[in-house]
Amino acid sequence: MKVLVLNGPNLGRLGVREPDVYGHQNLHQLTEQCSRWASELGFEVEVRQSDDEAEMIHWIHEAVDNHNPVVLNPAAFTHYSYGLADAAAQLHAADLPLIEVHISNPASREAFRRHSVISPVATSTITGLGFLGYKLALEAIGALQK
Ligand code: DQA
Repeated sequence: MKVLVLNGPNLGRLGVREPDVYGHQNLHQLTEQCSRWASELGFEVEVRQSDDEAEMIHWIHEAVDNHNPVVLNPAAFTHYSYGLADAAAQLHAADLPLIEVHISNPASREAFRRHSVISPVATSTITGLGFLGYKLALEAIGALQK
């Protein structure tokens, strides 16, 4: 099984972007950690990041077509991208796990972050645990596949 771990806009700036909110570790470190966690769980992982909404939508289509479970941090797209939500709904319809992850806890921040257009079509949403959220998401996917 291959899991796609997809990260949305500005997450390529992890480590330098608001470290008090998102921590001091960068995307490369997140990628290494996800690869290690996935190999411990016995599956493959591909970690990607894009600032481009169309590219992220295409990656979700790819996951549907190839039957890949997805860990998705939609970043700011969380709050307004109906295009990404419609793509994510196709994962839901195909019974493929979609775990929405947020490094911070959006519910405790600005009002605009309190609404997710992705959560209604996600299997589960994990927030506020830093990179640990990705580990828990991968563990959940492993458990759901059994
Ligand atoms: C985020 C939270 C979003 O509100 C924000 O736009 C991000 C990152 C998080 O991981 O906490 O870019 O998804």
